[in-house]
Amino acid sequence: MKIALASDHGGFELKEALKKHLVEDRKIEVLDLGTYSTESVDYPPYGHSCARAVVSGRADLGIVCCGTGIGISISANKIKGARCALVHSDFMAEMTKRHNDANMLAFGGRTTTPEEAIRWTDIWLDTPFDGGRHQRRIDLIEPEEIIEAVGEHWDK
Ligand code: RB5
Repeated sequence: MKIALASDHGGFELKEALKKHLVEDRKIEVLDLGTYSTESVDYPPYGHSCARAVVSGRADLGIVCCGTGIGISISANKIKGARCALVHSDFMAEMTKRHNDANMLAFGGRTTTPEEAIRWTDIWLDTPFDGGRHQRRIDLIEPEEIIEAVGEHWDK
């Protein structure tokens, strides 16, 4: 199991705390795609590169962090195949695995403590995907596939 991590400056410290937990406590291999300091950087390339690592198979899962988790999760979700969930509770951490099979999590370094991010990451990692009807719904997420499936009925 390998988890890709990426953040901007606003999420840097949270990324570092998650990296320490994953490597030291859970013995999980980590692919750290930066950023590597609190110097200001733009978040989109970090969201994209983490999502690309996940959908290409270079990593199994990904976690991205920015100030709020919003910008970097929006960016990650632009990559086809990424299902990046911004999580703010135990319930969301559990349900985004059970129902969405989220392959990425997003956290905000200015909204979420390291202890919360670690707890929600552990819940996500330790929860199974429920499959069944939830797999069908996941298969409907990509808009190109929906357009193809409904064809000329798209606007009706
Ligand atoms: C950077 O100041 C901040 O905008 C960024 O970390 C993130 O919160 C954007 O959504």
